[in-house]
Amino acid sequence: MDRVAPEGARDKVAAEASRRRTFAIIAHPDAGKTTLTEKLLLKGGAIQLAGAVRAKGNARRTRSDWMKIEQDRGISVATSVMTFERGGLVFNLLDTPGHEDFSEDTYRTLTAVDAAVMVLDAAKGIESQTRKLFEVCRLRDIPIITFVNKMDREARDPFELIDEIEKTLALDAAPVAWPVGRASEFAGTYDLLERRFLPVDADDSAAIDLNGLDDPKLEALVGPERAAALREEAELAEAGLNAFDLEAFREGHLTPVFFGSALRDFGVGHLLDGLSCYAPPPGARAGDPREVQPGEEKLTGFVFKVQANMDPNHRDRVAFVRLCSGKLVKGMRLKQVRTGKQVPVNAPLFFFAKDRQVAEEAWPGDVVGVANHGTLRIGDTLTEGEELNFRGVPSFAPEILRHVQLEDPMLAKKLKTALDQLAEEGVVQLFRPLDGSLPVVGVVGQLQLDVLQSRLKVEYGVPARFQETMWSMMRWVTGEDRTALERFASLNRRDAGEDHDGELVAFFGSDWRRKRAEEEWPMLKFHAVREQHGLVAAKR
Ligand code: G4P
Repeated sequence: MDRVAPEGARDKVAAEASRRRTFAIIAHPDAGKTTLTEKLLLKGGAIQLAGAVRAKGNARRTRSDWMKIEQDRGISVATSVMTFERGGLVFNLLDTPGHEDFSEDTYRTLTAVDAAVMVLDAAKGIESQTRKLFEVCRLRDIPIITFVNKMDREARDPFELIDEIEKTLALDAAPVAWPVGRASEFAGTYDLLERRFLPVDADDSAAIDLNGLDDPKLEALVGPERAAALREEAELAEAGLNAFDLEAFREGHLTPVFFGSALRDFGVGHLLDGLSCYAPPPGARAGDPREVQPGEEKLTGFVFKVQANMDPNHRDRVAFVRLCSGKLVKGMRLKQVRTGKQVPVNAPLFFFAKDRQVAEEAWPGDVVGVANHGTLRIGDTLTEGEELNFRGVPSFAPEILRHVQLEDPMLAKKLKTALDQLAEEGVVQLFRPLDGSLPVVGVVGQLQLDVLQSRLKVEYGVPARFQETMWSMMRWVTGEDRTALERFASLNRRDAGEDHDGELVAFFGSDWRRKRAEEEWPMLKFHAVREQHGLVAAKR
């Protein structure tokens, strides 16, 4: 096995880890995430991939039958990973589905990144989905870089946009670029930190160094009116707005703000420079019983997504593993801590925008796909033998609960297998009511139900319908007092069940009933979020 030689191995791991920037783009649909992704890939030299992001969308839609829903709805449900290199750094961009209905996947993807780029439409500012995604980033204080996109069009006043970020997200914002001219008069940006002018429609390297804002070159470059406006605004900005502070950014308390136009390929290089310089490399990750440092020699990682049938020619399941320490090489055997099983990693996959490629090695911050037959589950920790579990891959209490009803009762066994597999993949959450009634599936949005129905039929040949339940919410129930837990379970057999991992859950018809239960059972805890493997919800 081609393992790293012990001598200097730690240094090598630490050096490779420090070259990684693993990030996601969060945006409200239409803000320009796809366009920006294309341009970032282009900048990263992955030219053959650029333009493939959109094409990938179409190709992806034809890849397997269940994805027909994506085609019908014109949205992307799958998550993928794109890797590109620039300036000696390796960027891993984890794509997140933007549709507001299908957000659990997105939440989990955000557990695997070290930074996020928040794309705003300059005319719209913070939109509903931006806010939701931001809140998820805040759960882990993920550092966020803001890219105000579509500056080539009618845009809102930059002061107003910055104020909106600060007020609606309770996040300090520091402009690092300032737009010169607006809409059709947009001439480029002034780099407030480097004191350079970046002209629109010019190469990234075409930045023009200035001797501060008073440099007379400015008039020649943008004309007297825009120069005067810039001077006034930039001075106001420097005096009245937050200055960039790397530490505050890395702690998730301050966002640097870039302005540009993804469509015109303007400001994207500047943004990428910002990602290179400011976004953190992989850091220490909280685990049980200890924190893991990225530079450690031994490999650790966790599964944040499982996807089936990404390619009809490979009807396996692929677990997306984010590496947290050590080096991964082909042929390694890793321990799945939950079960103690050994998982062979014979052909780790990188997910470039176009094809799956076999990787030779991977380092902390990288994401690899591990093909398996359903052994690996979301939240699983993989190690070289250590008993360790990473925290922070959450399940959210579903908001829609439905009984699954078979059209053909002879298929009950097949349905069970199908539901078990789909629950492992995280497509739905599955609950078995304690009174033995029909299984209950829980989802956060209607779209997830459509995906489930389609996949049950197409992949497993089990046509099924969903039947309303009398519940509108569920909670995981935990408590130190085992007798109380047992008593709760036996008194509420009709409104309680077990989740896929055997954890106790309670169903409620209304928020009022939930509150009642909390009052009646003060010794128990009712959780809306559960981390994998009982770190929030302890075993019964
Ligand atoms: P999304 O992934 O966040 O949903 O957004 P996407 O990149 O698909 O962009 C949404 C629309 O906004 C697209 O137009 C895209 O061309 C446009 N757009 C993105 N960035 C900019 C920008 O910097 N300036 C301007 N003016 N437009 C931008 P569309 O008409 O919906 O699609 P298409 O026909 O261009 O593909």
